[in-house]
Parts: sequence; structure tokens; C-alpha cells
Amino acid sequence: MSLDIVILAAGQGTRMRSALPKVLHPVAGDSMLGHVIHSARQLNPQSIHVVIGHGADIVRERLAADDLNFILQEKQLGTGHAVAQALPELTAENVLILYGDVPLIEVETLQRLLKKVSAEQLGLLTVNLADPTGYGRIVRDEQQRVSAIIEHKDATEAQKAITEGNTGILAVPGKRLADWLGRLSNNNAQGEYYLTDVIAMAVNDGLVVATEQPLDAMEVQGANDRKQLAELERHYQQREARRLMSLGVTLRDPARFDVRGDVSVGRDVLIDINVILEGRVFIEDDVVIGPNCVIKNSTLRKGSVIKASSHIDGAVLGEGSDVGPFARLRPGSVLEARAHVGNFVELKNAHLGEAAKVGHLTYLGDAEVGARTNIGAGTITCNYDGANKFRTVLGEDVFIGSNNSLVAPVDISSGATTAAGSTITQDVAAKQLAIGRARQRNIDGWKRPVKIKKD
Ligand code: UD1
Ligand code: CA
Repeated sequence: MSLDIVILAAGQGTRMRSALPKVLHPVAGDSMLGHVIHSARQLNPQSIHVVIGHGADIVRERLAADDLNFILQEKQLGTGHAVAQALPELTAENVLILYGDVPLIEVETLQRLLKKVSAEQLGLLTVNLADPTGYGRIVRDEQQRVSAIIEHKDATEAQKAITEGNTGILAVPGKRLADWLGRLSNNNAQGEYYLTDVIAMAVNDGLVVATEQPLDAMEVQGANDRKQLAELERHYQQREARRLMSLGVTLRDPARFDVRGDVSVGRDVLIDINVILEGRVFIEDDVVIGPNCVIKNSTLRKGSVIKASSHIDGAVLGEGSDVGPFARLRPGSVLEARAHVGNFVELKNAHLGEAAKVGHLTYLGDAEVGARTNIGAGTITCNYDGANKFRTVLGEDVFIGSNNSLVAPVDISSGATTAAGSTITQDVAAKQLAIGRARQRNIDGWKRPVKIKKD
């Protein structure tokens, strides 16, 4: 069955009190609308249309993609009017309506709903609510068949007592939609063209409205203000924490763990408190992540260890390597197996060979470090002259003394040694010792300056 998806995202969201359009507010590092689009794509529709209005330009700019068609709804005259804007583009057998401010909807729930739609039947997602105030109510006849949706503001007292609410999410046979939408009127309490009026029309035309429910009411919860946004965020994080635990991860505290992207995990991974995972993070078996770490777009191979308060971005940690505490790995940092990066070390575009060691207070930028090479405390690569970047290349089993300045471009061959405190500006051949520092002089009988007393 072919499918078109229409995502409604034109509303203002006044209660956010924000310059940013509501649907661009983030949940777990992606905009609410971004989450909905992500779910929509997984249904393999033939097209996805996003109806935009408030902040249309910025929404289009932020989310532009080849498979998305943005449609401007100049005036927000109601949900029925919004869907009508997409009508000229809709050609599939079925049309699914989603909402840009309802980000946690699960793909499985939508798949169950789509199983219900056919030429003779609509699929409607409803939810039972302790307090349905504000929601459209699902009106059923004596046989419990859906006959209409009545908006809260138009409902009688008896209808307001109905606790089955309309989520807004709806799957309809595409062929009939133009006819129904064309017959909508705005003669109601809000003076809007209600999409929900399509339900009674379909029933009058002899179609059946089949209902489906989400597994969790939070799936269909929208965010109208920052408080609801925070609730969605927490719910998302709890769901993600449970997912990772079910795959064999120990989370020291699932309430103090945040995912803002796509994470894949192996077994027996240990994650301490206040860890944030961003972008695409691949974690293999037996990895240990200490407290207060931020890890973004990185791969952590089997048994690698990240100690407390480290910031890892765009890095690959080899098997059994270890990093931190207080380390910063910037994009292009690659550690081979058993490499060691200690405290207050910054790496950028640097490759550490197997079992290479950079223990303390070091900056390596644009550097190649051979296997087993050891870099003394306080060493830096001088890789930038203010305009250009240059590479530092260290062979295998090199020993760099403490507090060296390695002025790139420079090449230090395998087995070479540099003395502590050296400024290395020339290449060093294999097994040579390089000493690049002023010779010490000791002066006898030195008189220190004395302070003159003021009265
Ligand atoms: C709608 C439903 C109601 C349901 C509720 C669930 C209608 C008439 N009512 O009511 O039955 O219980 O959602 O939250 O459909 N939008 C546009 N253009 C418009 C109007 C709305 O794009 O002209 C978008 C909004 O940005 C929003 C969504 O449609 O994402 C729903 O609109 P909203 O005004 O919040 O509808 P409700 O009154 O909550
Ligand atoms: Ca709403």
C-alpha cells in the first residue's frame, strides 16, 4: 500500500515564549519536528509533506532535505485547512497525518495504525486520559463504533465526560480526502476548519473508523510550553536508558544519563553518572565510561576506558586504550590498541600508535605518533604559525623528554630521544639524542635584589 505522510507544523506555540518556532525546540538534541520526520521516514512513504507557517523560513532552512516537501500555510485556519494545503501533492492510496510538536510517537504504533486503513476504513489513534480537558472526544454509537470527534470547546457536558481523547494522528484513504476536506466548514466554537470533522463524514459515507492506542500515553503527548518539553525530554531519556540496559549496559544511575543521538552498545558496558552521549556513538563490549564525560560522534573499541570528566569528540579509541581523567580528544584523534592518554591532555587530528603514551599536560595537534613512543609531561606540538598547519611525525619507540616544544613540520625517527626542556626545530634521525635548550650556567656569590623599606 502506497503512503503519503503530512506533518502539521504551522502553529505558533505562543506558550513557549520563544523566538524559535515551537517545532524547532529540541528533545534529546534533535528538534521535535526532526524526531517526527525521523519516524516518518522509517515507514517508507512515497512522500513526506511538512505544512509550515509560523517561522516557516527558519523551519525550512533547518530541516531542508531531498525527501521533504515544505508547504506554506499562510494563515492557520485549522487542522483541516492545514491538511488541505497538501492535497494537490497527495497521490498515494493512504495518507497519514502526524504533528510536528508530538515527537515521541513510536514507529511500531504507527505501523499498527496503518494496518487499519483501507479503502473502506480509517485508522484513528486515540488515548484514554484521566483528564481529557482540551482534547477532541471520541463519540461512539451503541455498538461502540466511532461516529464522530467533538472538540472540547464544542462538546456538551455529556460528551465532555468521555475520557477517550483524539491524539490527532490519523490514517485515511487518500482518494476520499479531497472530497471530505472540501466539505469542511468553520461553523464551530473556534471558527476553524477541523480535520476531526472528517470522521463523521467518513461514517456517513459508510466507512468504518477503526481505532488503535499507543502503548504509552507519552508517545502522543505534545509540547506547548517548556515544562511539557522537559517532561518529553525526561521520558525520552528514561526510554533510552531502559533500552541500553536491556542490551547489557550497566548505568550507575539511569536518571543521570543523557543520549542526544544514536548510540549502539556491546555487552558489559559500564557507564557512571552524568554521562552525555551525542551524535553517533559506537560502544563495544567491556567499555568503561567514568562520571561526567561528554562523548560525541566517536567509536570506543572493546575494553577501552574513559576516566572522569573527559570530553571526547570525533575520536576512535582502540581496544584496551585508556583516556583521562580530564582529557580532551578533538576530531581526528585516533588511538590504536592499548594507547594511553592521561590527565590534562588535548589531542586534535592526532594518531597514537599501539601502546603509545601521552601521560600528562600535553597538546598534540596534527601529529603522528608511532607504536610505544612515550611523550613526556608538558610537551606540545607547535603545529600552527598563525596561517598554516604543519605535521609532527614521531617514529616508533621514540622518547620525548618532559616539556618539549616540537616545532612542526618536524620528523623524529624511531628510537630517537629528546632531552627534557628541548625546543625541537630540526628533524632527528633514528636513535639520535637531540638536546635543544640553553646550557645551564651557575654564578657564584649571587646577590638577590632586596626590598627597600618605606616609612
Ligand atoms: C487537535 C485536535 C483535537 C486533539 C488535539 C490533540 C482538531 C480540530 N483538533 O486540537 O481533537 O485532541 O489536537 O492534541 O484537529 N496546525 C497547523 N495549522 C493550523 C492549525 C493547527 O499546522 O491551521 C498544527 C499545529 O501546529 C499543531 C497541530 O496542528 O501541531 C494541532 O493544532 P492545535 O491547534 O494544537 O489543535 P488542538 O486544538 O490541540
Ligand atoms: Ca494541541
